[in-house]
Amino acid sequence: MSTDEKNNINQNLLNTWQKLQNNGEIVYNKFPHLNCSVKARHDVKIFKEFCSFSGSVLDVGCGPSVPSYLQDNNKISIAVGIDPLISFGKYESDEKIILLRSIGEHLPFQDNSFDFVCFATSFDHVIEPITVLNETKRVLKKNGVAIFWIDDDKLNLIKRALRKTRRMMKHIENDPAIDSQEMLKQSMEVPSGAADVFHVRHIHFKEFNELCKSLKFKKIEKLKMENIKSVFVKYIKE
Ligand SMILES: C[S@@+](CC[C@H](N)C(=O)[O-])C[C@H]1O[C@@H](n2cnc3c(N)ncnc32)[C@H](O)[C@@H]1O
Repeated sequence: MSTDEKNNINQNLLNTWQKLQNNGEIVYNKFPHLNCSVKARHDVKIFKEFCSFSGSVLDVGCGPSVPSYLQDNNKISIAVGIDPLISFGKYESDEKIILLRSIGEHLPFQDNSFDFVCFATSFDHVIEPITVLNETKRVLKKNGVAIFWIDDDKLNLIKRALRKTRRMMKHIENDPAIDSQEMLKQSMEVPSGAADVFHVRHIHFKEFNELCKSLKFKKIEKLKMENIKSVFVKYIKE
């Protein structure tokens, strides 16, 4: 993030976010094989089907490596993943998939550039949700589609984080690293103003949908994923 960009964001919020990002980076580096979007994960396969990407795709908050929902799809002409945790040269390159270190609040693209913009469990990590949605709208083409994987769980936060990890990791259930990862998470500090050790806030679907409506995104499809307490949802930019 440039100094100018940083200056436009509330300093306390930025400090909180930076600490959360540090927590996230530690877990990503220590347990890369446990992270989101590994190919075997059933929920990620369903998300990929739900997205049905084609043409140009921007994935905001893609993580530090290429997520599986962008891979093996010959209908995609170009996919760009952006994430503040990307370090150059650390991922396997693919001529159709490019990763950039950036944030959703300042998308480094021209207006009307993408057929799809997607957020897979990343929207509740951003610093300024409304700025990010406005940026999303700006870079989407007319009739372009914004896709979100949003949490929709009313359980208390710690219980939720634990249950979610267990649900998501079913395919590698016997891996002892899951317990080590859990212990590491529990030893981490929740920065002041944050919702937990990774998230600035939790935005449930109802609240999120109101936000999108207020910015004139039109909802076109929704899939409730009861087993992972999430919602997959598509909005069109008219
Ligand atoms: C739970 S991970 C999801 C990663 C990936 N989408 C996946 O499904 O595997 C959330 C990601 O959001 C990223 N993130 C945090 N703040 C962001 C921001 N302001 N703009 C874009 N991405 C952000 C984090 O660095 C993290 O990699």
